Amino acid sequence: MKTIAFGTLKGGTGKTTTCFNLAGALALDPNNKILLVDGDPQCNLTNDIGIDCSDMNRNNIRTIFENKKIDPSELIVKGAIDELPNVDIIPSNILLIKTEMQLVSIAGREKLLANYFSKNSDFFSQYTHVIFDTNPNLGVVNQNIFYFVDSIILVSDVSLNAIQGAELFSFLWEENIEDLGIENNIKALIINNFDKRINLAKDLQDYYLSEEEFKDILVETPIPGSVAMKDTSLSHLPIVVLQPQHQAAIAVRRVVKELVSREVF
Ligand SMILES: Nc1ncnc2c1ncn2[C@@H]1O[C@H](COP(=O)(O)OP(=O)(O)O)[C@@H](O)[C@H]1O
Ligand SMILES: [Mg+2]
Repeated sequence: MKTIAFGTLKGGTGKTTTCFNLAGALALDPNNKILLVDGDPQCNLTNDIGIDCSDMNRNNIRTIFENKKIDPSELIVKGAIDELPNVDIIPSNILLIKTEMQLVSIAGREKLLANYFSKNSDFFSQYTHVIFDTNPNLGVVNQNIFYFVDSIILVSDVSLNAIQGAELFSFLWEENIEDLGIENNIKALIINNFDKRINLAKDLQDYYLSEEEFKDILVETPIPGSVAMKDTSLSHLPIVVLQPQHQAAIAVRRVVKELVSREVF
């Protein structure tokens, strides 16, 4: 089982879109079984899959922190994408923000999620990949996610703010991991919403390739900006299903191939 989280400290760079679409491409291999986990109270990944996250009766990621004894099978929505029955999801909930506040004073608070997965490893080992979406902060819920996963994938778009978001994440997370006693698990950086007609696009790639912390982890293939990628959210279908021949779908499959060869996926 590989565990992966998408992150950065800038909103709108395409974390959720990339998470949803790369998971879709991974799921084309029927040997893969994927569990998505939405760690963002804005619930964008949950919405992309087509699940209503304001439903207070549905278990969600918050339940893990509220009721440590919950059986994992009760958290999961199975086969939420008809075309890709090997993708399950633990949805988010708008009240995840409350969990953040409740956890602040608990001892060992950053390790609760890791403990839950470890206690229920028999159940979770049915999945080849557990993939988390996050929102742009390093609050307690996200710390739990980033502490638990083998690999963090940073997502940048073509903007100076996105560079700052990736650099800030990398800087702050390195401070965190010293306290948490783990190795640096930032393993990849994807450029999303790429348009080679924009002058800054090539400069951005060159910049990341010149930086010590990013040069070895930058994913070679950028994901192009396109209306088709935007449509994946409204249609609740990843690009590889929605428009498999589209250049964005080709890029997404290439990115997945590269991440598989680097053992991130
Ligand atoms: N490759 C892309 N091409 C076109 N639109 C994109 C692409 N990636 C993301 N978007 C759009 O940009 C916006 C922000 O993306 P999102 O994935 O929600 O970012 P984040 O999760 O980092 O906040 C959304 O409206 C999404 O549809
Ligand atoms: Mg998002």
